[in-house]
Amino acid sequence: MTGHSTETRKLIVATNNRHKLDEIRAILGTSWIVFGASDVAAGISWDETGHTFLENARIKINALRRHTTDCVLADDSGLCVDALDGQPGVHSSSFGGVEGDHQRNVDHLLAALKDVHGERRGAHFYCLLLFVDESGNETRFEGRCDGHIAMERHGTGGFGYDPVFVPDGSDVSMAEMGDERKNAISHRGRAMREFIRGVR
Ligand code: IMP
Repeated sequence: MTGHSTETRKLIVATNNRHKLDEIRAILGTSWIVFGASDVAAGISWDETGHTFLENARIKINALRRHTTDCVLADDSGLCVDALDGQPGVHSSSFGGVEGDHQRNVDHLLAALKDVHGERRGAHFYCLLLFVDESGNETRFEGRCDGHIAMERHGTGGFGYDPVFVPDGSDVSMAEMGDERKNAISHRGRAMREFIRGVR
């Protein structure tokens, strides 16, 4: 029992990705005040040299904890494509050759899958959340969203691979569904709801 259950707590999220922050704020509502990494350490960056989502989340957490004693949360997420043996995975944000260039990443993915058709275009998004509280206690949460890669882009919402990712049970891409619907089924939404259940 931490004694924090009814208070609004500060949460520093180890990302500078505005879309991720908006998604996390929308899911958490008013129980946490959410700040991005650059709000506590202007210009902060890190090299995601880990070989797993967990290693990368730890790199982000360690970078941030040098600058704050508040609760920190790191999200490491990516797209795992069946026909590419799980790639790009931890390399999702630089798959096209330039870190964070979503346009290139999607172009590269569509090119890599140009001869792959139908059910062989299966893929899933994965999200690992690593949470460290004010006392240094660590907890992990996971979420996954299964679907397939469309033959071309659809929609302008979201970020990253959203325009080409069609979740199972949906006839539109993640970029066509709006934040609320995306959060209800996404890897990050699922992991965040585990976080809400697990951290009080
Ligand atoms: P990270 O910021 O190091 O976790 O890298 C995550 C990368 O995975 C992003 O740059 C995107 O390419 C991809 N990604 C993760 N979550 C999503 C999502 O919700 N939609 C689309 N792409 C995502």
